[in-house]
Amino acid sequence: MTAPADLFDPAAYAAVRRPHLEAETLPPFCYTSEAFYAREVERIFLKEWNFIGRVDRIPNAGDYFALDFAGVPVVVVRGKDGVVRALANTCRHRGAKVMAGEGTCAALRCPYHSWTYALDGTLKGAPEMDATVGFDKADFALLPIRLETWAGFMFINFDADAVSLMTFLGDLPEKLAPYNFEAMTCTRRAEYDLACNWKIYVENAMESYHVPTVHMSSIQQQKRDHNPPIATGGGYCGLFTRHEGSRAILPGEAGFPYIPTLVGDTAEGSFYVLIYPSTMFGCTYDCMWWLELHPEGPTRTKLTVGSSFPNSIVARDDFDEVVARYYRRWDISIAEDNVISDRQQQGLASPFARPGRLSIMEPLVHTLGNWVLDRVLD
Ligand code: FES
Ligand SMILES: [Fe+2]
Repeated sequence: MTAPADLFDPAAYAAVRRPHLEAETLPPFCYTSEAFYAREVERIFLKEWNFIGRVDRIPNAGDYFALDFAGVPVVVVRGKDGVVRALANTCRHRGAKVMAGEGTCAALRCPYHSWTYALDGTLKGAPEMDATVGFDKADFALLPIRLETWAGFMFINFDADAVSLMTFLGDLPEKLAPYNFEAMTCTRRAEYDLACNWKIYVENAMESYHVPTVHMSSIQQQKRDHNPPIATGGGYCGLFTRHEGSRAILPGEAGFPYIPTLVGDTAEGSFYVLIYPSTMFGCTYDCMWWLELHPEGPTRTKLTVGSSFPNSIVARDDFDEVVARYYRRWDISIAEDNVISDRQQQGLASPFARPGRLSIMEPLVHTLGNWVLDRVLD
């Protein structure tokens, strides 16, 4: 299928705009086009709150990690004052990337000419710059990037005019409050490089239609249902499934006790929430896990899978032994999703790919496609 001359003409997407069971899927070029991707970066990833993990990744002053988010180098660092900050990871001298990887440092030192920044980004050392006319170190701090947290989860936003994180999330913190995320620790982060568009993976995460086929050998016994999406009052959409037993462990295996503060729906099933644009939270009886998708190009995506358990569970003597069963479940099911997502990308790249139709089990595939169109079209 060839893309329309004007990629952002709403008329080209009329079939996607119809109600879920009458609609077509996004056209294949939305998953392959450089221009469509560039528009998503400009209108979505540089505008929205983007999830970047938990603050317990950097518990002490000087702990940092660097990331490139949608092409923007960022360093996240905890200051001497205990505050976690995101800074543009671009040196104010001649622009080199200052920090790489992750670790602990006393200061942020650029590897090119050793300009050195304090943990809050202020420029402290600039060798040989005394003769430079009118140069004042105070004017050359690393530029701050908005970082706000909710219950230990960090989000960054590149847009100075964006609403606050809590305004963006709306009623989600209240809805998920029984999980008591504040009292959790992320015990494992696993990273994967995917050869697919970010939307492919988000769509996969938000539908259970594929579970009996893709997860035939692992979680296929998990009950699926045709419930409509949960009501949303914020920058998210989601599904709730009523069932017994943790969703984070393979059928028949013994796990941890349940989170004691669960009430209402949270005590009767699991929530699968997509925090727009590209983060899935899986919240079940004994833990939460996330799928964090960072776009790296129209057909490249970095996936981070984070696993978080209540601190009281992490403190148990048998934690390492029992948690291995959870990790095994994720290792298997995530690998299965990764393979099928890359394979979908290959099929969609064909000149013979055409828009498809959606089953009753894929309402959020429709929701995500329309959410994207709401932002990228003219
Ligand atoms: S580019 Fe960083 S010190 Fe020169
Ligand atoms: Fe899956």
